[in-house]
Amino acid sequence: MRIGILGSGLMGGKLGTIWARAGHGVVFSYARSKQKLEKLARDAQGKARAGTPGEAAREADALLLAVHWSRVDDVLKQAGDLSGKVIVSCSLPMNADDTGLVIAHTSSGAEALARKVPEARVVSAFNTVPSEVLFAVFEVRRKASRPSLVYCGDDASGKKTAAELIRDVGFDPVDAGPLRIARYTEPFTLLIAQLAYEGDEGPELAYRFERFA
Ligand SMILES: NC(=O)c1ccc[n+]([C@@H]2O[C@H](COP(=O)([O-])OP(=O)(O)OC[C@H]3O[C@@H](n4cnc5c(N)ncnc54)[C@H](OP(=O)(O)O)[C@@H]3O)[C@@H](O)[C@H]2O)c1
Repeated sequence: MRIGILGSGLMGGKLGTIWARAGHGVVFSYARSKQKLEKLARDAQGKARAGTPGEAAREADALLLAVHWSRVDDVLKQAGDLSGKVIVSCSLPMNADDTGLVIAHTSSGAEALARKVPEARVVSAFNTVPSEVLFAVFEVRRKASRPSLVYCGDDASGKKTAAELIRDVGFDPVDAGPLRIARYTEPFTLLIAQLAYEGDEGPELAYRFERFA
C-alpha cells in the first residue's frame, strides 16, 4: 500500500516507520522541520520518503491523520483534494492542554472530521493505545495472542484497509461498528491514558478483549 502520514510526531512517526518496515510505501509529512521528516524516512529503512501533505495525499491508498486536534484544519487544507481517500485517524478531539475532550457524548472527533471531509472515507483507529507500545507490539506480532485494537467507520472498504494496517502493526483488529461508536472509543482512550501515564508500570500498555462463551 502507499500510505501518506499527515502528522509525523509520536504516533505518525512510529506508525509510518512500522508500515515501511512491513513493506508499505510511506510518505512522512507535516512536522515543523523538513529535516525531521527526512530523518524519519531514512531511519525507517524501507520505501519511505519525506514530502508535503499534498504529496503524501496525492498517490496514497490510505492516509494516517495524526495531529493535535487544533492542527486538523490546517493539515487538511495543506493535503488538498481528499476525494475517495481512506483517512485512518488516530487524532483525538483534545483541548489545548490535553486535559479533556472538546467533543463527546453527542458526537465525536471522528464524526466531526468526517463532516470536514465528506468526500473522504474516515476510519477511527489507533487512538486507543499510547505511542509507547507500538514498536513493542510490532516486535511480538508473530505471537499467537495479539492485543486488540478497536476501530470504527461507515465505509466498508475503508475499514478493510484499516484492518489490514492494524494487523500489520501486530494488533488484532476489533470492528466496533459505525463511525458514531467513536463517541465511546474516544473517551475509552482517556482511561487507557490514565492507566498508561498515571500508573507505576510505564506507558507501554495495550489491551485485549476476550470472550468466555
Ligand atoms: N501520543 C499518543 O500516545 C497518542 C495516543 C492516542 C491518540 N493520540 C492522538 O494522535 C494525534 C497525534 O498525537 P501525537 O502524540 O503523535 O502528536 P505529536 O507528537 O505532537 O505530533 C503531531 C505532529 O504534528 C506536527 N505539527 C504540529 N504543529 C505543526 C505546525 N504548525 N506545522 C507543521 N507540523 C506541525 C508536529 O511537528 P513536530 O514533529 O515538529 O513537533 C508533529 O509531527 C493527537 O490527536 C493525539 O490526541 C496520541
